[in-house]
Amino acid sequence: MTSAHGTGQEMPQETSPGTPREPGQGAPEGFLRVEGQTKFLETFLPVRNEVIHGFYRTSRSSRTSRTSRAPRTGKRKDLRAAVRLLGGGAKDTVPDLYRLYYNRLFSMIWLALDWGPYTAEIRQVADPQRRIHLSQVNSVDRCWQPAVESAPKDGRLIEVGTGLSDGWARIAHLLPQVEIVSLTIERDQAEIGRRIAERLGLSDRVTFRVGDLFDPATTRDLAGSADAVTAMGVVPHFPPPRKAEGMRAMAAMLKPGAPLQIFDAYRVRPFSRFMDRALISSLCWYPTRDELRDALEGAGLSLTRFDAYDAESCLPFADDTRGNDQLRREFGPVVARVFPRIVSRFMKGLLAPQDSVYLSAVRR
Ligand SMILES: C[S@@+](CC[C@H](N)C(=O)[O-])C[C@H]1O[C@@H](n2cnc3c(N)ncnc32)[C@H](O)[C@@H]1O
Repeated sequence: MTSAHGTGQEMPQETSPGTPREPGQGAPEGFLRVEGQTKFLETFLPVRNEVIHGFYRTSRSSRTSRTSRAPRTGKRKDLRAAVRLLGGGAKDTVPDLYRLYYNRLFSMIWLALDWGPYTAEIRQVADPQRRIHLSQVNSVDRCWQPAVESAPKDGRLIEVGTGLSDGWARIAHLLPQVEIVSLTIERDQAEIGRRIAERLGLSDRVTFRVGDLFDPATTRDLAGSADAVTAMGVVPHFPPPRKAEGMRAMAAMLKPGAPLQIFDAYRVRPFSRFMDRALISSLCWYPTRDELRDALEGAGLSLTRFDAYDAESCLPFADDTRGNDQLRREFGPVVARVFPRIVSRFMKGLLAPQDSVYLSAVRR
């Protein structure tokens, strides 16, 4: 069920419980609709999976031949990667986390490196993995809704956080003339994105950029150029004292009046001790609702949308996270059995004390 919560700022209208905001007039066909989202998955998923599989198979075999190690080392490394996610300390950087662990492992069980709330229609889909994928495409649709409905047909949209390529690909599919710039701090994601764009015939209007948002050089040439900027699951990686700074850096790319669209989550209750450790290990910091509000305020942003979903709307995601044939084939039976259970437990611990929120804001 969906809940509506205020942030203390002057709040825009929120969705009423259980009612996703309807697509506006003139929205592209299939937008925010399961049948349109299914069509997208049927085109995108086989290409995405093949590209990721090929990318890591090639890089692993070149690694193996360079070091003359037996292929078994790769399997052991995979097992270590899965176990590492239990919370083995925070020695890695954010790019390490994605390159070494998240990109490959999570692409086997999820569509994106994020979760989506479950609608009544998605709950009725029989296949658990398809439910997860649909909730994630729906999450992209909901996050990008203001841009999809009001950006100029041939506008420029900027995505911060390429992840596993579902975001930019979904939007390029919905809006066949927009230009998209997708930014990530992790180089494999950009290269995988480039290969997918090539395969989908989208290379002429989607570009990828590797850089740290906190480095002004990364986005300087994009200042004031975007009809919308979107960040799904990115703000948690900004350290607590730098949340406002990160949001300001994203907002600096907007044209006047254009929306910054964020999918995020905020704590309504404390995390367990296990989750506190696991989140530090994942280099994620989730704010309280007030801290989120303060960061927006500190970044000079005014809210235009704040749609919050309670834990109930998102928790089926944790139960639907389970092993599958692809995971077994690539990582072997032990990882296929253990890893989804770890992730499912992690997601329950992450989602139960939180609300998930789709917010939009404009520069004051
Ligand atoms: C949890 S993933 C989300 C990916 C994707 N948006 C999704 O919803 O699946 C976080 C993304 O943020 C990017 N990211 C994190 N910190 C960043 C920074 N300082 N600069 C640029 N990108 C960053 C990572 O590279 C990654 O793509």
